[in-house]
Amino acid sequence: MRMKGKNVIVTGGASGIGLASVERCLEEGASAVIADLEGGEGAARAAELDGRHAGRCLFKACDVTDTAQVDRLFAETVAELGSVDAVFNNAGIGGVTPSDEVSDDEYLRIIDINLNGVFRVARAALRVMYRQGSGSIVNCASILGMMGQSQTAAYTAAKGGVVNLTRTLGIEAAPKGVRVNAIGPGYIDTPLLQALDDELLQGLISLHPMARLGRPEEVANGFLFLASDEASFVTGTTLMVDGGFTAGKS
Ligand SMILES: NC(=O)c1ccc[n+]([C@@H]2O[C@H](COP(=O)([O-])OP(=O)(O)OC[C@H]3O[C@@H](n4cnc5c(N)ncnc54)[C@H](O)[C@@H]3O)[C@@H](O)[C@H]2O)c1
Repeated sequence: MRMKGKNVIVTGGASGIGLASVERCLEEGASAVIADLEGGEGAARAAELDGRHAGRCLFKACDVTDTAQVDRLFAETVAELGSVDAVFNNAGIGGVTPSDEVSDDEYLRIIDINLNGVFRVARAALRVMYRQGSGSIVNCASILGMMGQSQTAAYTAAKGGVVNLTRTLGIEAAPKGVRVNAIGPGYIDTPLLQALDDELLQGLISLHPMARLGRPEEVANGFLFLASDEASFVTGTTLMVDGGFTAGKS
């Protein structure tokens, strides 16, 4: 029970890596808030999971591009659960478009969710965690935060930004008892990959030394480590969970 009695918010918690992380937190004794878009799968997933474990599982509608919704998420969670001990800043979208063809709308939307959203959520978390004198924030980066990839300008810019934002927040928050880290998944078998055609996907799989996609729960386990007290001397860093993808490239 590595998270016994802790309260965790997972943005993008309705699907894929986020949902697996919610499930692992509940299994490890935490209460978990699925923070995801209104009208998606979040409410149904929380209703299924609530009551199965010792901790609560709640759904809160939150679009990470909206500061007021993010701030309300934290205020309501503190009011209902009493604290926010860990946050998985996981909401994100993909996008593959040649850079000379990408529209302002597509470019700015990816940056607003995958980078600015991470900052909005981290800022709200810091305000609560500074008052508590403790907490752990885990931002979702990617292998594409460590290296470039053709036709993913907005995504790679955002994820590279998340890696360096994490360093800065890690330094800044350390004296106040709050840790900030990132996790860098390789290609993980989630709905995010559904947009990729099979040939491209097979090519990407072959780039992983482990020659397979990762599973959402393998990223969730990395999140759990960073969120838990087991990582008490870890801050400002990015833990790669990528089947060796970046090992030979950095
Ligand atoms: N799947 C991969 O191969 C992979 C690899 C590296 C990094 N990642 C990162 O992992 C994270 C999770 O991805 P996933 O593969 O589980 O994707 P997913 O599509 O299964 O889940 C993403 C979730 O984010 C939510 N979301 C999207 N926009 C949002 C917004 N504005 N506000 C709140 N929630 C929003 C979606 O509703 C969805 O539930 C993302 O940050 C992604 O960039 C994924």
